Amino acid sequence: MSERYAVIGQPVAHSKSPWIHAQFARATRQDIEYGLIEAPLGGFARAADEFRAAGGKGLNVTLPFKEDAFRYCRSVTPRATVACAVNTVKFGAEVSGDNTDGIGLVRDLAGNLGIDLRGSRILLMGAGGAAQGVLGALLEAGVAGLTVANRNEDKARELAARFSGVAASGYAALEGRFDIVINATSAGLSGETPALSSALLARARLAYDMVYGRETPFLAAARAAGVPACDGLGMLVEQAAESFFFWRGVRPDTAGVLRELRGR
Ligand code: ATR
Repeated sequence: MSERYAVIGQPVAHSKSPWIHAQFARATRQDIEYGLIEAPLGGFARAADEFRAAGGKGLNVTLPFKEDAFRYCRSVTPRATVACAVNTVKFGAEVSGDNTDGIGLVRDLAGNLGIDLRGSRILLMGAGGAAQGVLGALLEAGVAGLTVANRNEDKARELAARFSGVAASGYAALEGRFDIVINATSAGLSGETPALSSALLARARLAYDMVYGRETPFLAAARAAGVPACDGLGMLVEQAAESFFFWRGVRPDTAGVLRELRGR
């Protein structure tokens, strides 16, 4: 019998994860089923318990439940601890959690997009869960510099203070040059963009939006300034591959899956 997995979130109906994991399973000859669970706010633990009781082996966790999942797991990996969030739950002898978002971003930047992170100065925009989820992995990748910018500057400072060597700023005070500007804000979801100066954006070598499947105003502004721009679809596929590995111990190839998704 197939082993069961699912992505849990709210909303989750348009998730690409079932399709991605079905491709991984086919390519690696793993016998799994992968579904969708739409849980009500505050209903994560109950839905996860029910899925486990019905024989579920693991969950991908998306908004808004990543912190709930972190509290739910009996043990978590060091990178999930740093992120204070879990996006992958494994139901084994105990309930364990991982966070593959940060490594997903790093693999997309370094692997798929060919960026030399060690030589790159990074501007990470946003200080919410999305930013917190990837900061540790960016630092671990040995980036040449990392600044967190946020509309609410205090939040940027609080987040940066948890790590060594991370600067914090509001948007207006930013100066100098950043090689890569990463949008980890939710601004694009409401058709907005952080108040980053166009001169600063124009000096970047890459603009990256962690949101996928839409041309955010941030990506549009980057393209208009002649800066290569990329959405978060590659990060989605890479974090999925790392989750698959956490569950199954098998690392699927991502290039073909990403190509197919882009071609759709
Ligand atoms: P997520 O988990 O997606 O990071 P969150 O924790 O609600 O969501 O954080 C949203 C982030 O997007 C915050 O950094 C927020 O900035 P503030 O802390 O200053 O509110 C940022 N954000 C949302 N809309 C924005 C906008 N229009 N311009 C700039 N930043 C915005």
